Amino acid sequence: MEARITLQVDGEPRTLTVDTRTTVLDALRDRLDVTSPKKGCDHGQCGACTVLLDGRRANSCLTLAVAHDGAEVITSEGLAGGTPDGELHPVQRAFLEQDAFQCGYCTPGQICSAAGIIEEAAAGHPSTATEDLQAEGGIDLSDAEIRERMSGNLCRCGAYVNIVAAVRQAAEAAAARRGGTPDPEVPVVADSPTAESMPEHPEERA
Ligand code: FES
Ligand code: FES
Repeated sequence: MEARITLQVDGEPRTLTVDTRTTVLDALRDRLDVTSPKKGCDHGQCGACTVLLDGRRANSCLTLAVAHDGAEVITSEGLAGGTPDGELHPVQRAFLEQDAFQCGYCTPGQICSAAGIIEEAAAGHPSTATEDLQAEGGIDLSDAEIRERMSGNLCRCGAYVNIVAAVRQAAEAAAARRGGTPDPEVPVVADSPTAESMPEHPEERA
């Protein structure tokens, strides 16, 4: 069975006819040539396919496209385009400055997740690492919080230490901006669309 759907992909409406079993990931990569979300495991286990779906991070390999007709899909390449001057998103710059990748295969998913968790924490959504469930003004992203919230994104290269540093840098900048005291030396996280162990590497696709 087929269905005609429209997805708002990185700010652009894209209409296509899909088999109703088509995932968002396959629609993006195979039908729309949007290849920044990577297919690693295709089973929801590696996070390489993470996108922001109506502002919330989601494993696009587990998500049926037909269930999200009209939805906004932001990929890591769309995050860059989301800034007024077309510069890299601050989370992307933090990854560069902290050298938070090696081969880069997991990086688009890591970046989408990082943008997502910064907004989730700011909105007060707790994780299992959250100690103060009554915290006002959002939850501070400690290293433990970052590790817990990013734990669905695996990195075969083991770049985790620098990934944590990059997310911390972007989160601190976002917190400073929300508090009205932006540090000009620290990249500021622009508004995102709404807002541990070494893994076995899944099969790789370009
Ligand atoms: S490809 Fe989606 S979680 Fe691995
Ligand atoms: S940087 Fe290579 S998989 Fe993460």
